Parts: sequence; C-alpha cells; structure tokens
Amino acid sequence: MKIVVIGGSGLVGAKLVDNLRHRGHDALPASPHFGVNTITGKGLAAAIAGAQVIVDVTNSPSFEDAAVMEFFRTSCRNLIAVAEAAHVRHHVALSVVGTDRLLESGYFRAKMVQEDLVNASRIPHTILRSTQFFEFMPRIAQSDVSEDAVRVSPALVQPIASDEVAAALADIATASPRNGMIEHAGPDVFHLDDVVRRVMEADRDARKVITDPHARYFGAQLRDDALIPDEGAIIGVGRLEDWLKDSLLSSSTEGRLPATRYDTEGYREHEDSAIARFGKQGGDTPRGRGVSPRELTVER
Ligand SMILES: NC(=O)c1ccc[n+]([C@@H]2O[C@H](COP(=O)([O-])OP(=O)(O)OC[C@H]3O[C@@H](n4cnc5c(N)ncnc54)[C@H](OP(=O)(O)O)[C@@H]3O)[C@@H](O)[C@H]2O)c1
Repeated sequence: MKIVVIGGSGLVGAKLVDNLRHRGHDALPASPHFGVNTITGKGLAAAIAGAQVIVDVTNSPSFEDAAVMEFFRTSCRNLIAVAEAAHVRHHVALSVVGTDRLLESGYFRAKMVQEDLVNASRIPHTILRSTQFFEFMPRIAQSDVSEDAVRVSPALVQPIASDEVAAALADIATASPRNGMIEHAGPDVFHLDDVVRRVMEADRDARKVITDPHARYFGAQLRDDALIPDEGAIIGVGRLEDWLKDSLLSSSTEGRLPATRYDTEGYREHEDSAIARFGKQGGDTPRGRGVSPRELTVER
C-alpha cells in the first residue's frame, strides 16, 4: 500500500516512515526536505499520485499566532484538494489532546482549524490526538521564560514516547478510516512543572522552575486536566524516566540531553528508528479508563 507521510522528515514523521517500511508498506516521506511543499504546492500532486493513504504530521516552522494559523490552514487546504483529486482513501492527521480546550492559544486555534478541515473534507479520515512527546518537554521550558527562571503551570500532563505515536499512526494508516478521533497518551500522569524540572535537571539547565498556575502554555492558561485525554484513550507503555536515562546515555554531549528538532538552532537528523512496543491492556487516566491500541482493525 502506498502511504505518503507529509512531514516525513519530522520527529514523528521520520519514525512513522521507518515503521511503515518495516511493515512492508511503500511509505513515501514528503516535506520541503524531500522537495514537497504543502504551502506552495511544489511536488505535492506527484508525491500523492497513486497513494491510498496520506498521513499529515507537518508542523509550522513558526508558532507565532498569525504564522501558525496561516500554515495549518493553507497546508491542510492544499493537501485536501490534491488528495481529493487523487482519490486518496484515508486521510490521517496528527493533532494534540485537549486542542478544543486550549483555544486561548494561537497554536491550538490553528490545530483546531486543521482538524475542522479534515473533518469537513470528502476524504474518509482519522484524527489521532496525542499528548506531548517526551522530546517536546524541553521546548515547554522555553514557553514562559524570564532570564533565570521558567514559569510553568502545575496542570496535569501525560507525556508519551514519540516512537509509540509513530507506531499508533502506522496502525491507523493501515486500518479502515474511523471518520472520527482517537486519543493517545503515555502511561503516567505528572504535574507539568515537575516534568519540566526533571527534564531541565537532566539537561543541566540551572534556571529555576517557578510553579505558577497562571503560567501560559503556548499562550493558554491551563485548567488542571486540559492536557489529559478522555476515557477510551490508547495508553502507551514507554516511561519518562526510561526515556531520560536512554537519552542521556545515547547523547554525544556527556550528561546532557541530545539536541532535538525543537531546539531553536536548526533541526537534527533523526537516526533513531525504534519500533514502538505496544501491547499493554490500557491503563487508568484521571479522566477514565484507557484501551489497548490493538483494538484497531488492521487492513492487509
Ligand atoms: N511535539 C509534540 O509533543 C506533539 C504532540 C502531539 C501532536 N503533535 C503534532 O504532531 C505534528 C508533528 O509534530 P513534530 O513534532 O513531529 O514536528 P516536527 O518534528 O517539527 O516536523 C515538522 C515536519 O513538517 C514539515 N513541514 C514544514 N513545513 C512544511 C511544508 N510547507 N510542506 C510540507 N511539510 C512541511 C517539516 O519538513 P522539513 O523537515 O522538510 O522542514 C517536518 O517534516 C504536529 O502537527 C503537532 O501538532 C506534536
């Protein structure tokens, strides 16, 4: 099956391409890095020609309110127009748990527009809403900063291994469209300020983390459970402490976390292609009971 991964050079996109190829699918990464641009349309029709499935894991190069809205609106509209013309059978899009609760944020208003466009199109679709990737935690430490301190909300968060999100997307891309939304979260619930503190400590970042219920999360003030999935979410198995340990061990900069795409200076190459290990029969979240990813019906 030909599956085009739009944003296939990104953090989760590169892992998804590896995962799909490992399963024997014809997975094509598409992004500016590969000569395909959803904003200008360059290379898009050629990339999508003959594809049964497209998976949109693009992200906006800028998180500034107007820029991010322009990105997701234009990118998604262009993608849908080309995919409709190519008779794509399934449009999978990656979004964020709590998007509809975070509309005070320009980023989440833009993600909402992306979801609405996917929902309104004629192409059968599935939206996967994931919680924050472990790799994204250092970026949160850049969200509400002064010179020597970071203000972070103590709201609950249930971060997830991006490997597992890539594996869930591969499951979804090879299953029948749900014409609906699925949520996906990690196994443990933390307070956001505690996670950021731990990640910064691991990264030898000496700045102080100030717990502040009014701190902004990409422009939005967080209700306690704003980032937590509802009942029925797929619950992963990868744990934050293992990711921290593995990341520190594999880092070439001794004792510090490796650079990620989310660092402000340039993007890293993604050499890691681990296939996520699923299988846990779900777990409990503050909003209810989780389910196993194996409930997805795989189409051969
Ligand atoms: N990070 C998280 O914690 C998290 C959690 C839940 C959901 N999500 C969602 O997951 C998605 C992917 O996130 P990520 O962190 O994997 O992103 P990322 O690493 O920043 O990668 C972004 C991807 O978008 C591509 N892209 C940028 N402009 C493009 C354009 N004009 N045309 C086509 N492709 C373009 C980039 O291509 P180039 O490399 O060629 O520039 C890259 O492949 C986002 O939509 C985000 O909202 C993220």
